[in-house]
Amino acid sequence: MAAYKVLVTGAGGQLGQELVRIQKPGVHIIGLDRHGLDITDAEACQRVLRDIRPDTVIHAAAYTAVDQAESEPEKAHLVNVIGTHNVAAAAESVGAKFCYISTDYVFDGTANQPYQEDDPAAPRTVYGRTKWEGEKAALSACSRTFVVRTSWVYGKYGANFVRTMLKLAGTRPVLTVVNDQTGSPTYTYDLALFLIDLVQTDRYGIYHASNSGSCTWYEFARAIFEERGLSVEVVPCTTEEFPRPAPRPRYSVLGHQAMVRAGFPPLRHWREALREFLRESEEK
Ligand SMILES: NC(=O)c1ccc[n+]([C@@H]2O[C@H](COP(=O)([O-])OP(=O)(O)OC[C@H]3O[C@@H](n4cnc5c(N)ncnc54)[C@H](OP(=O)(O)O)[C@@H]3O)[C@@H](O)[C@H]2O)c1
Repeated sequence: MAAYKVLVTGAGGQLGQELVRIQKPGVHIIGLDRHGLDITDAEACQRVLRDIRPDTVIHAAAYTAVDQAESEPEKAHLVNVIGTHNVAAAAESVGAKFCYISTDYVFDGTANQPYQEDDPAAPRTVYGRTKWEGEKAALSACSRTFVVRTSWVYGKYGANFVRTMLKLAGTRPVLTVVNDQTGSPTYTYDLALFLIDLVQTDRYGIYHASNSGSCTWYEFARAIFEERGLSVEVVPCTTEEFPRPAPRPRYSVLGHQAMVRAGFPPLRHWREALREFLRESEEK
């Protein structure tokens, strides 16, 4: 039987790089980075998908510079909305499924309990707005669309909070980290495995996929150093002490009802995933 063919856009990003390294029997993953496919080029999207004929496209390409997006909303819109439409429409035209990766930033961050998949979106940033519009573009352009929202992503590839903390630990004895934003860290490996399983089903719709449990950034930083056995002093601070161009959600924990309803086990606890990530990155 022919292998199940998955095309990954944004294969040079942190999730994209993880996806193209996933080994699953019967699944053939093809990654295209920005040079292989610029998603803002509609014709190229059609041509490349006609050539490759994937069963599914996992769309990991995105404009992800949250603060910078506030001063260049057109660029964010071009990639996250128009680019997404281009790829989703190309997927539809070759009969492929489409999996759009979205974000906790589609919510306003004012909740006190986990956001469920059907809670109303109310993004407060340019990035969040364009990602939400990207969700709508995907759902309208491709009839077989999965939307998977995730949060606080880290992994072996690219820049992320865990790698930044480890780098800073080597240069500073005391680190100040915000303690009034709560979310769920997500290890790219766990997310990638779930995505590969999900796209082989026909259970289309909106999903939340983050590691289980929640913490503040301060608690996350402390856990990183504890798991690594590093004695770094971490001092909690407030969001006001670290003003950023794009406001950060105070609370962005995602509930996982859709995943469970579709028969998938929730992703493991964030601390367990972090432990494995750190162990693996130490071995290399
Ligand atoms: N990181 C997080 O904490 C987080 C949280 C929630 C959701 N997400 C979502 O998860 C997905 C993956 O995020 P990530 O962390 O892997 O982001 P990332 O590392 O920034 O990767 C995104 C990739 O998209 C590429 N890209 C940008 N414009 C493109 C274009 N016009 N054509 C083709 N490729 C283009 C980027 O290439 P260049 O590097 O060349 O620009 C980059 O390699 C995104 O949809 C993001 O919104 C991320």
